[in-house]
Amino acid sequence: MLSYRHSFHAGNFADILKHIVLVEILEHLVKKDAPYEYIDTHAGAGLFNLESVYAKKLEEHTNGIGKLKPGDFPELAGYFDVINSYNESGALKLYPGSPSIAKYFLRPQDRAWLCEMHPQDYTSLKQKIGKSKKIRVSCEDGLKGMSALLPPHSRRALVLIDPSYELKNEFEQVFDAVSKAHKKFSTGIYAVWYPVVDRQKVDRLKKKLIASEIKNIQRFELGLSPDSDERGMTSAGLFVINPPWNLFDKMSTLLPRLAQVIGDTNEKCFKCDIIAKE
Ligand SMILES: C[S@@+](CC[C@H](N)C(=O)[O-])C[C@H]1O[C@@H](n2cnc3c(N)ncnc32)[C@H](O)[C@@H]1O
Repeated sequence: MLSYRHSFHAGNFADILKHIVLVEILEHLVKKDAPYEYIDTHAGAGLFNLESVYAKKLEEHTNGIGKLKPGDFPELAGYFDVINSYNESGALKLYPGSPSIAKYFLRPQDRAWLCEMHPQDYTSLKQKIGKSKKIRVSCEDGLKGMSALLPPHSRRALVLIDPSYELKNEFEQVFDAVSKAHKKFSTGIYAVWYPVVDRQKVDRLKKKLIASEIKNIQRFELGLSPDSDERGMTSAGLFVINPPWNLFDKMSTLLPRLAQVIGDTNEKCFKCDIIAKE
């Protein structure tokens, strides 16, 4: 039984990092005319109302997107353009989830596959995304669904793996699914999101990735505060396999500045490193 609902957390610091990286990768993919496929294994509800009772309960976006001034981050124009496209009045009311961000970039030749297993969020996702021949929405286990979709016809794909990590062994499940997917399709771009609640779990995943056959892995992480056993999620990150060539340079100048604005303490909490070389 799934209890996690992303509507309580939309637009928080973890979403900012994940969605900035997502936009960077999608901007890279659309530079070529060749079609690509976008696979979102844990799609969520699609579009979030920051004035809903859910968002208002924790107000996490105030510590996330609410802290970012577009004028201070001209290099994130693409990310702000996507957000603005869902907020025609100019005021920030709706925050786009990963499916809405992907939809913004999708061209006639591209395809998207969105998996969401929570029945209510699946219904909401279908409504928010609307009918489109280019986008398939399914209520199934995204990690199993991903495997069936690979390798894609286009031979170009971005797979976003963004679980809620509610299950005890979810880090292990994610690693197993990624390594299986990579064996079927080793040239795809995979972005694997993780929360830092228990650093040991993240370190174990990192070690397994290093020990695997997978090459070309980078890690980007942003935090509110240093690791702690008491504070819940203090940081969040992404392992990106086969990243665009310019992503590392961009993130290495951006992350310290984001950490300065987002962080709760004087310590800038971020990581930007190469986990496995090409
Ligand atoms: C962190 S949220 C996704 C947020 C979304 N990717 C975004 O960036 O807007 C994780 C979602 O995964 C869903 N979920 C959990 N286990 C799943 C599974 N095995 N397959 C597909 N969806 C799952 C949850 O219901 C939740 O909506």
